[in-house]
Amino acid sequence: MLIAGGRLVDPTHGIDAGRDLRLRDGIVVEVGEHLIADTGEETLDATGAVVAPGFIDMHVHLRDPGYPEKETIATGTLAAARGGFTAVACMPNTNPALDTPDIITSLSKGAHVRVYPIAAITRGRRGQELLDYAALAAAGAVAFSDDGNTVMDPRVLREAALAARATPGVFISHALDDRLHGDAVMHEGSVSRALGLPGSPGLAEDIIVARDLLVARETGKAWHIAHVSTATSLQLIRAARAAGMSLTCEVTPHHLFFSDEAVRKLGTDAKVNPPLRTEDDVAALRQGVREGIVDALASDHAPHTAAEKSGDMHTASVGFSGLEIAVGAYALALPGLPLSRFVELLSTNPARILGVPGGTLELGAPADVTIFADRDWRVDPTLFASKGRSTPFSGQVLPRAIVATIVGGRLAFHAKAVSPR
Ligand code: DOR
Repeated sequence: MLIAGGRLVDPTHGIDAGRDLRLRDGIVVEVGEHLIADTGEETLDATGAVVAPGFIDMHVHLRDPGYPEKETIATGTLAAARGGFTAVACMPNTNPALDTPDIITSLSKGAHVRVYPIAAITRGRRGQELLDYAALAAAGAVAFSDDGNTVMDPRVLREAALAARATPGVFISHALDDRLHGDAVMHEGSVSRALGLPGSPGLAEDIIVARDLLVARETGKAWHIAHVSTATSLQLIRAARAAGMSLTCEVTPHHLFFSDEAVRKLGTDAKVNPPLRTEDDVAALRQGVREGIVDALASDHAPHTAAEKSGDMHTASVGFSGLEIAVGAYALALPGLPLSRFVELLSTNPARILGVPGGTLELGAPADVTIFADRDWRVDPTLFASKGRSTPFSGQVLPRAIVATIVGGRLAFHAKAVSPR
């Protein structure tokens, strides 16, 4: 395939210029100006669009095995392709949990994009029993997390980190203290008080981030903090980095755009863990992205059925779909962010953090390419490929759209037309 006429952005080589790209046999074989199509070669016109190394969403819930009513590998990875992602890393809060090599190896059947499993840290994600991390990594696990749950016992976490220290694969913190969080359904603050809803203080996150940074430092295990949502967590990460630690972190589209005020209007479509925080937290996260404290953007795609998201704030499921709005929402929340930084946050850095191929368009790299354009479109969840139709971005006009997603040199998604605003 020849991708012609686009603006190629590859932060790994400092390229941001008009270049054509040739893919063959699943890899990048040529980057150059005015390349001529070979006879029979498929050509994709990228005029007016940006051509980037394939985007990798390192925080996705595919719900397989166990919850086909919420999502399947097929629907979740089609949503990923439509959202511009050539690869996703999927979280282990499935049924059964991703805690055995057999389950890990079963996951990519029927997938439209690459699927990288994240194995549990503890058996059944129950926070007690350690797993065989080397065997899970050998089966294909790229990282370890009890996401959805926090490993609350510091003794267990420390032993797990020591046991996994020599195994490739970062530990990913889901940082929310069970006891401080309690039965909260949103952030604790003036909005929760006004609505009379139980709130989760920022402290519930900060205290676990602080603890996990200490465990990471003591054990020497490579560490990543998922869905950072508070200014204080970010300060702790900044301080740990300044002290020489090499940990990484991610933020989500919803935490970069919405505050807890959104719960007033959107109700259960704004119910998520960690909860939407304050305007100051949102501003700090945006600043953290611009300053380089944040390493990756990740959607935390967490689909649930319409029935599960209906009802009141107390009973509705936690989380919502993210894959199909993510790229547009990042552009909305981070106007003017240089494209090389945008691509680094969505491709180069997630590949590096997870230790997976991609994140670059150098010769010989996988032929995984995301093509996007700065065009307005309006979010209509009824058009989602995902089975989860809840999103706080419903009806929102987003300024960046996916033109095509290419996985291993094959088109996984190609927008015929971007729906008008
Ligand atoms: O909102 C959330 N939903 N946060 C999580 O950590 C888990 C996720 C889910 O699996 O539904």
